[in-house]
Amino acid sequence: MKTINEQGYTFQEWLSPEQIAKDVQQVADRISEDYKGKEPLFVVVLNGAFVFASDLLRALKGIHCDVTFTRVSSYSGMASTGTLDVIVPLQKSVKQRDVIIVEDIVDSGLTVNRLKAELQALEANSIRVATMLFKPNKLERKDAKPDYIGHEITDDFVIGYGLDFDGYARNLPAIYKIKK
Ligand code: IMP
Repeated sequence: MKTINEQGYTFQEWLSPEQIAKDVQQVADRISEDYKGKEPLFVVVLNGAFVFASDLLRALKGIHCDVTFTRVSSYSGMASTGTLDVIVPLQKSVKQRDVIIVEDIVDSGLTVNRLKAELQALEANSIRVATMLFKPNKLERKDAKPDYIGHEITDDFVIGYGLDFDGYARNLPAIYKIKK
């Protein structure tokens, strides 16, 4: 098993690039099926989701779609701060659109819940969530369960494939779990 060091911590490879590609394709196939004949608007949550989003959108089949970005922050280091700062506001109208929020990971669900509430207030027609990773044990509200999940994960901290550790490691092509 491949291990790496990041800022004094050891991380072990957990999902290989090949496994990630399979997970992404499975999500893309479900979205392609569910949104046949529709024109969804993907709202990509920066920074972490940019890697997943770029693979996901290119893996869709027969879908005419639109994409926009927002940036929010609820994390510092390895812990959620519990508050959500909107750093990059939405640049596109979501009114009457079928929106798919694209996340790198849903942990407590706080980030995605706040975003959903915001999009609802802006009168989106429908809102679903696609995430590469989901930590079911940490979910604070059951209604925040994502609609499309690449892979479920235990409570461990992970990096790579868009996920960072204080800004680093987003560029790793595999996903690594912290070694205790
Ligand atoms: P939530 O609001 O607790 O669901 O956290 C969502 C955000 O926290 C994600 O978009 C990530 O940016 C960050 N996050 C949560 N867990 C991890 C992790 O294990 N590694 C890196 N970032 C994480």
